[in-house]
Amino acid sequence: MHIGPLLGSGRTADVYALDGPWVLRRYRDGIDATGELAVLSYLSASGYPVPRIGPPAEEALPTDLVMRRLTGPTLAEALRAGTVTEGAGAELLARLLRELHALPPRLSQDPEDRILHLDLHPENVVMTSGGAVVTDWLTSGEGPPELDRAMTSVILAQGALDPTSPAGDQLRELLAALLSRFADDGGVPADALARATALRAADPRLTTHGTAVLDEAAELVASLAA
Ligand SMILES: Nc1ncnc2c1ncn2[C@@H]1O[C@H](COP(=O)(O)OP(=O)(O)O)[C@@H](O)[C@H]1O
Ligand SMILES: [Mg+2]
Repeated sequence: MHIGPLLGSGRTADVYALDGPWVLRRYRDGIDATGELAVLSYLSASGYPVPRIGPPAEEALPTDLVMRRLTGPTLAEALRAGTVTEGAGAELLARLLRELHALPPRLSQDPEDRILHLDLHPENVVMTSGGAVVTDWLTSGEGPPELDRAMTSVILAQGALDPTSPAGDQLRELLAALLSRFADDGGVPADALARATALRAADPRLTTHGTAVLDEAAELVASLAA
């Protein structure tokens, strides 16, 4: 396997170019990518917009995933550049969650459960010429759809309250627009908000600042959702 230049980097993984249309996503801290592979295969087969999984690379590590290279800005970049408005961004996030939650679960026997992403925010949506594609399925699981809506809302609220973020006001606007769209899908009930906040609090990858504003973020979501 010939590993090319670094294309992107998030909180947990680095993404490198490989030869042809493929990229290598490699976790930095030894996280096993096998579970994610099963979810991605299921979602691809269901027609949900995820990066296509490629052939396993030679000398691949358990932390590696080979997938199709996505070309285009992330939704976060497009919002910052002003090429996507807050209203259109909110519409897109709401639609991506709604479509995900329309699919039957892969594992759960509970008829109410759905596949959840649990980290669906603008950095994890890539705007390709063929449409928006959702990446970064490490945290995905199965459960009630309102938990996913609550997670996205809390994550956006944390960003909105981050004084080091240049996009704070924009994220607040995006959050308000998103919550008004969620109202048609069942909204963000208080128990789902509490569960999402607890899950965020237990996330070891949360920054110091993210932790400091978490309670305030939950209050912001509750006030805007009311
Ligand atoms: N298939 C892909 N093709 C090209 N770039 C990608 C691809 N997947 C992810 N990226 C880029 O790498 C970044 C980090 O990937 P991501 O899966 O979100 O990992 P993390 O868990 O570290 O956030 C993304 O924000 C995106 O810019
Ligand atoms: Mg990411």
